Amino acid sequence: MHIKVKNNVDWVGKIDWQLKKFHGNELSTNRGSSYNSYLIKEEKNVLIDTAWKPYAEEYVANLKKEIDLEKIDFIVANHGEIDHSGALPELMKQIPDTPIYCSAAGVKSIKGHYHQDWNFRVVKTGDRLDIGNGRELVFIEMKMLHWPDSMAAYLTKDNILFSNDAFGQHYASEHMFNDLVDQGCLYEEALKYYANIIAPFSPLVEKKIDELLALNFQVDIIATSHGVIWRDNPAQIIEKYLQWSKGYQENQITILYDTMWDGTKRMAETITEGIKSRDNDVTIKLFNMARHDKNDIITEVFRSKMVLVGSPTVNRGVTTATAGILEELEGLKFKNKKAAAFGCYGWSGESAARIGKLLEKAGFEVVNEGIRCMWNPDEESLEMCRKFGMEVITR
Ligand code: FEO
Repeated sequence: MHIKVKNNVDWVGKIDWQLKKFHGNELSTNRGSSYNSYLIKEEKNVLIDTAWKPYAEEYVANLKKEIDLEKIDFIVANHGEIDHSGALPELMKQIPDTPIYCSAAGVKSIKGHYHQDWNFRVVKTGDRLDIGNGRELVFIEMKMLHWPDSMAAYLTKDNILFSNDAFGQHYASEHMFNDLVDQGCLYEEALKYYANIIAPFSPLVEKKIDELLALNFQVDIIATSHGVIWRDNPAQIIEKYLQWSKGYQENQITILYDTMWDGTKRMAETITEGIKSRDNDVTIKLFNMARHDKNDIITEVFRSKMVLVGSPTVNRGVTTATAGILEELEGLKFKNKKAAAFGCYGWSGESAARIGKLLEKAGFEVVNEGIRCMWNPDEESLEMCRKFGMEVITR
């Protein structure tokens, strides 16, 4: 199976409709994904990236239907992570001497995974590879977007940027092009991808996009390594990345809670009443951290100007769901967000203070000391929650 991208460039990847978790269990992919690989047939034949390891045999069998493997002149490995390099061992069994173009860090990464001394050709930003018919591939290092070895390749004349992970989405679609899919779903998945994968490297995103723009390449198509290909107004996703990389926030407050006997849940709902009584325009979203998809929660936090986090006190600490989210938020390094803590307790009551500290460590501006309610909140405690909601909205 192949899908024509433009002229002599075809998609020869794998659509993974059943993928629900990625990076082990770290990332939910509720709409599946795809591992995009591209075959360019000019005077030289070039393969860009492969597919995830479980699909290696299927991928190579499919590729054989598209081209005699011996006729592949160059392989470009834009990134060594196994979702893109995973079919290399199967492929290289059959064409062991074919040169693999990658970054210096790419050699380390690919060797680190497969322990093979393939015919690596190290490239850096600005290096060009002539593939005939007036076309060249120009390499652009994309260091830390999102691995040290990440790289992109630009095909002149066809004006296609093979961007690898950058600008991708975990979004399975047989259509494979951005103009043919549901725009709401596409936006949600691109944003989730940014918030959960790219966000820690936001300071580099702006620099890298500036560097790309300075190369003055006309980009008609951004062919990512996951999800659909941006062929209709590809600048739209570059503009979004620029917005998302600069302390992005919407007029939204996200309230995250965990609860054992519904006390902290009632606090969350009553804080919401307080916020709404003062500001009916702000979007407020509540999530039970133990029940809701954690990566969707992360995306909602990314969209927010403020996050309120509540947990009951358990063994002088917080629940495991709360700890997990806070750990994740520390690593993601979101900027430009305020926060506060709350929680129920029976006797010792450390949760709110602990959440406050962890939020601060994660880079949030913690606006107050937080509130706590003993046992199941009574009317007096609920009134305190209402006032808390009224107060945080003024921050
Ligand atoms: Fe899609 Fe970083 O691999």
